[in-house]
Amino acid sequence: MKFQSLKGFRDFYPEEMAARRKVLDKIFCTVRPYGFREVDSPSLEMLELFRVKSGEEILTQTFNFTDKGNRDVTLIPELTPTVARMVVERSRSLKRPIKWFSMPKMWRYEEPQSGRLREFYQLNVDIFGVPGPEADAEVLAVGIDIMLKLGLEGEFIFKISDRRLMQGVLESMGIADKREAVFAAIDKRYKITHSEFKELLSKAGLDDIQIGRLLSILDSRGPILEALQKLRALLSLENEQTRSGFESLEKLADLLVMYRMEQYCELDPSVIRGLAYYTGTVFECYDTKGELRAIFGGGRYDKIIELFGGDSIPAVGFGMGDAVLEILMRRAGVWPEEKISTDYFILTTSPQYMETALFLAQALREKQLVVETDLLGRNFGNQMKYANSIGTKTLLILGEKEMAGGQVSIKDMTTGAQKTEEVIRFLDSVKNK
Ligand code: HAM
Repeated sequence: MKFQSLKGFRDFYPEEMAARRKVLDKIFCTVRPYGFREVDSPSLEMLELFRVKSGEEILTQTFNFTDKGNRDVTLIPELTPTVARMVVERSRSLKRPIKWFSMPKMWRYEEPQSGRLREFYQLNVDIFGVPGPEADAEVLAVGIDIMLKLGLEGEFIFKISDRRLMQGVLESMGIADKREAVFAAIDKRYKITHSEFKELLSKAGLDDIQIGRLLSILDSRGPILEALQKLRALLSLENEQTRSGFESLEKLADLLVMYRMEQYCELDPSVIRGLAYYTGTVFECYDTKGELRAIFGGGRYDKIIELFGGDSIPAVGFGMGDAVLEILMRRAGVWPEEKISTDYFILTTSPQYMETALFLAQALREKQLVVETDLLGRNFGNQMKYANSIGTKTLLILGEKEMAGGQVSIKDMTTGAQKTEEVIRFLDSVKNK
């Protein structure tokens, strides 16, 4: 019987994993300097946790089951409810602001397609305890910084809006009661045709004039500073929600200028986000060519902690999946080369030399170097072939001649240059990695 991995699940072989590891290291090395601390949490949670606030769509996508204790549990489809639960558990002792990151695997029963899988990794970066846009700007800055550090300048754009603003717009138009259907339609806007979109709005109960007015607001998108000025003229700022959403966006834009990152951000009132818990700023990151699914999604969710029985703690953050990111990096030619490498391979011409080979290997491994010895008793030619296949940088040869003089031959595999040295002197000359 031959087995294969399930549809929408991936295997990563060493060469593939080596490239991924480089990308992941770069991501973590970008997030840590901002003072985000790594957390980890279970892959399995009570299904109820997601019923409370994630929204219907995600519930239909869970890998859930009843466990042997008759509990309804699910593999996590997202991390936000879990981190919120963790904050509630220690909300008295955690120092504010709480700045956390993690990159767990998660599972969604979606139809596998380009950039959408059933198992994927998602980087989560969240700040709890900051009510103002200072935290929104910081998580956005981290997201932008990651994309820049990965060599994606010019390849991505963050699209930002605010749910309060859109809520206020609906209130001013007298259609606040149609919010759910209108938001759901807006969330689909770029996934369907213009006429399908208008049809959805009309099904939601909007007349032609209301649709026209909404479209003019949705279309005020563009570079964040200019687009905000344009949008101001279209809004009635007496509405409390509209005003607070708009002022928050203005402040956010000013902060992004201070981070020198405003050029990577657009205002786009069509960004509304599918998840139910967002209460203010919402944003998504897309490729500039507009060919791929969203790379990031995030926003402010000020009510979850309270809903989970904690004090009122505002929160903002994002999730970035690994799947679209990989597609974009490959397209931009910045996905690392998929190859493994080895600092030293110790070639022995007789099993008798194993003791010296292992002494040498252990001494080099102490210096954090990657070292392999021959574990299969192969001949010279086959050991050479294997050494090449694992990307050996330097070959150490222990042959009859070398062993007789307490020496080792050192062959640089790139230049082909070879010299012979005393084993101890060679070891002393090797620096820690
Ligand atoms: P989300 O928009 O559902 O938000 O997911 C965020 C990102 O996760 C997406 O933009 C995409 O890169 C990735 N993603 C989602 N579903 C899949 C899938 N089936 N396959 C591959 N990648 C996927 C959330 O999950 C929020 N909890 C994010 C958040 C954190 N908001 C605040 N903090």
